[in-house]
Amino acid sequence: MAFADYSAHGAVAVITLNSPPVNALGRAARNAIAEGLERAANSEFVGAVVITGAGAMFCGGADVSEFGSPEMIAAPNLKDLFAMIENFPKPVIAAINGTALGGGLELAMACHYRLAAAAAQLGLPEVKLGILPGAGGTQRLPRLTGAERALNMILSGTPVAARELANTDLLDSVVETEVLPAAIAFCQHDAAAKLPLKKARDVRINFPNAEAFFDFARGAIAPIARHYPAPGKCIDAVEAAVLRPFEEGMKVERAAFAELVGTTASMALRHAFFATRAAAKIPDVPPDTPLRAIKSVAVIGAGTMGGGIAMSFANAGVPVTVLETTQAALDKGLGVVMGNYESTLKKGRLTSEEFDRRLKRISGTLSYDDIAHADLVIEAVFEDLEVKRQVFERLDEKAKAGTILASNTSTLDLNKIANFTRRPEDVVGLHFFSPANVTKLLEIVRGAKTAKDVIATSMNVAKQIKKVGVIAGVCDGFIGNRMLDAYLRQMGFLLDLGTLPQQVDQALENFGLAMGPFRVSDLAGNDIGGAIRKRQYLEHPERVYSKIPDRICELRRFGQKTGAGWYDYKPGDRSPNPSELVAKIVLEESTRMGQRRPVSDQEIVDRALYSLINEGARILEEGIAMRASDIDVVYLAGYGFPDFRGGPMFYADTVGLPNILRTMRAFAKGYQPDAWAPAPLLNKLARENRSFESLR
Ligand SMILES: NC(=O)c1ccc[n+]([C@@H]2O[C@H](COP(=O)([O-])OP(=O)(O)OC[C@H]3O[C@@H](n4cnc5c(N)ncnc54)[C@H](O)[C@@H]3O)[C@@H](O)[C@H]2O)c1
Repeated sequence: MAFADYSAHGAVAVITLNSPPVNALGRAARNAIAEGLERAANSEFVGAVVITGAGAMFCGGADVSEFGSPEMIAAPNLKDLFAMIENFPKPVIAAINGTALGGGLELAMACHYRLAAAAAQLGLPEVKLGILPGAGGTQRLPRLTGAERALNMILSGTPVAARELANTDLLDSVVETEVLPAAIAFCQHDAAAKLPLKKARDVRINFPNAEAFFDFARGAIAPIARHYPAPGKCIDAVEAAVLRPFEEGMKVERAAFAELVGTTASMALRHAFFATRAAAKIPDVPPDTPLRAIKSVAVIGAGTMGGGIAMSFANAGVPVTVLETTQAALDKGLGVVMGNYESTLKKGRLTSEEFDRRLKRISGTLSYDDIAHADLVIEAVFEDLEVKRQVFERLDEKAKAGTILASNTSTLDLNKIANFTRRPEDVVGLHFFSPANVTKLLEIVRGAKTAKDVIATSMNVAKQIKKVGVIAGVCDGFIGNRMLDAYLRQMGFLLDLGTLPQQVDQALENFGLAMGPFRVSDLAGNDIGGAIRKRQYLEHPERVYSKIPDRICELRRFGQKTGAGWYDYKPGDRSPNPSELVAKIVLEESTRMGQRRPVSDQEIVDRALYSLINEGARILEEGIAMRASDIDVVYLAGYGFPDFRGGPMFYADTVGLPNILRTMRAFAKGYQPDAWAPAPLLNKLARENRSFESLR
C-alpha cells in the first residue's frame, strides 16, 4: 500500500496522505511524504506542491502505536519532515480536506500556505494524552493564531472548525467547496507571481500583555497541576514562542515533550486510550462478524434505569418503546424522562428542535404486541428472578425471530434468565450504570450460550449510543460491582478501626477518585447498599461486613434524600458536613470491638486500591474479564476512577505487584485477615516479578 500517493496536475504536484483509517504519520507514511517531496523537488515541471488527505480525514497525527518504539524517531522523524517542508524550495500548500489533529495540524503549519474545508476540524489534542505537541505545534500555532487562541486550543485539546479560524493567519482561505481543486487553482493562479515561501517560524509575536496573561493561565491550571503535569509545560512552551526566537522555543518544546512522555500520568492516559480501543476487540468474535440491524428498541420497565436507557437510544436517534405494567407506572416513568429533557433544554444544552425530536422518539405501551417488532429489547424490571422469568417468557412468545433479548440485571444469573426462553443464544446482559443516560460504561454480559453475532452487535450498540462497551462473564456483580463489593467491605473495616468517613473520603479524593465511598453512598442512598448487604448476608454468610453501615441505615440516615447519612446536610444544600452522631457511633463500635487505632491516609488508599486489585486479579483468572485493561476501562468509564492513574490494574503495575503483595500480607496480620487472601494470579505474577500488562 502506498502511504502517500503522488500525482501531477499541470505544474502542481499533489501528495495525498493515504494510510487509513486516519492517515496517521507512521514511519512508512513519513517516508512516503519525504519521497514525494524529493520527486517534486527534482522535477523541473513542478512549480508547487499540495499536500492533502485521502478519504474524510486530512491527517490524524502521529501514529500513537509507535510511541516509545524506535519507529517513532526513525528517520525522517516528524520534526525533520516538517523542517523539510518548511525549507522546501517550492511553495507547499496544505489542502485540509477534513480533520487535522496533532501532528496532522503541525504538518499543515509547516506548509507555506493552508486552505481548509469550512467544516474541517483542527486541533492539538496531545494534552489529553499527558504530553504536548512535540513537532513544532506549540511554536507555530501561536505565531499563526496569536498566543491566546493557541494556548486555548493547546490546553483544551478540543478541535475547532476551520470556519472559526478563518480570520487568523493559520488559514489563507476557507472554502465551502472541495478544497483540493481550490488549492490547485490557488497555486496555478499565483504561479506567475510566484508564491513567496511564507514560513510560520519567521513570524514575530507582538503580545504586550504576555506576562499577565501567562500568570493568569498558570493560576487557572494550578488546581489540576498536581495530577496533570502537561498543561503547565504547554504554557511554558507557548510563552517561549512569544518571548524567544523559534529555535529556542523548539528546544523548550522538545525538552518538555521528553520529560512528559516519561511521566506516570502520561503513561496512564495513553494506557487509558489504548485500553478503550482494545476493549472493543473480542478474540473469538472476528471483526467481520455480521451485525444484526438495530433500528428500533424496546425497554421493559420505566423505572430509574429503564428511563435512562430509553433516553440513551433516543439521544442517538433510535426510536424506543417503553413497556410498563400499569398506566400510572408508565406515566410516572415517562414524566421523569420529560423532566430530564426539560432541564437540559432550560440549561441551554439542547435546542428546542432537538428536544422535540428526542421526545418524539420515545413512546409508551402496556402491550407486548407493540414491541413484537423491536430489534432489541432491554429488560429493566425489578431485580427479582420470578419477575424476570415472567418477562422473558412473554418476550420469547412475542418477539420476532432474531430480536436480541437483553437484561439489565446487576446481580442475577444471566444463564438462568436466558434459559427462560427457547432462544438463549439471543439473550445477552446489557448492564447500564445509573444515571444510564449519562454514565459511559456498558458491561456486555456474555452468557454461556450467547451467539457471537449478538455479542458483536451489542458492542456496536454501545458505540451507537456513545458508550464504552466492555465484555464481562457471568458472576455476581460482573466486573465493576464485584470489585466494588470487596472495596466497600474494606471501607467498612476502616470504620471498625475508628476511621471517620470524612478522612476516608478525603484520602481517596486526594488520590484522585471523583468521590469517596461515603459521599457516593449518601448520593446513591444508603438503603440501596443496605439491601445489597442483606442479600450478601444470605448468599455469602461466610463473608464478614462491618456492622456500622447497618446502624446508620437503622437510623434511616439514607443520605442526601433524607438530609442525613454519613454526613449531615442542610436543607437545599448538597455539601456534606461531618456528622457528630456518625463520629460517636464509629467511636463506640471501634472501641467496643477493641480495634480502634490511628490509620494513615496512605493506609486508606492502599486498603481501597489493593482490595479492588486483588478482586480484579480473581476476575481475570476466572475469565470474567478478558484482559486487565478491560477492568481499567470499567473503572475509568463507570466508577469515576482518575484517568491519570490509568485504572486499578495499571495502577497496580506502577506500584509493583510484589510491593502490593507485601502490604497485603502486613494487612493480613491485623484486622479481618481473611479479606486479604491473595488471588492466586496476583501471587503468581508477584513471585515472577511480572505485571498485569505482561499478560497481554
Ligand atoms: N438502580 C441502579 O442503579 C441499577 C444499576 C444497574 C442495573 N440495575 C438493574 O436494573 C433493573 C431495574 O432497576 P431500577 O433501579 O430501574 O428499578 P426500579 O424499581 O426503579 O424500576 C423498575 C420498573 O420496572 C417496572 N416493572 C416491574 N415489573 C414489571 C413487569 N413485569 N413488566 C414491566 N415493567 C415492570 C416497575 O413498575 C418499575 O417502574 C434491575 O434489574 C436492577 O438490578 C439497577
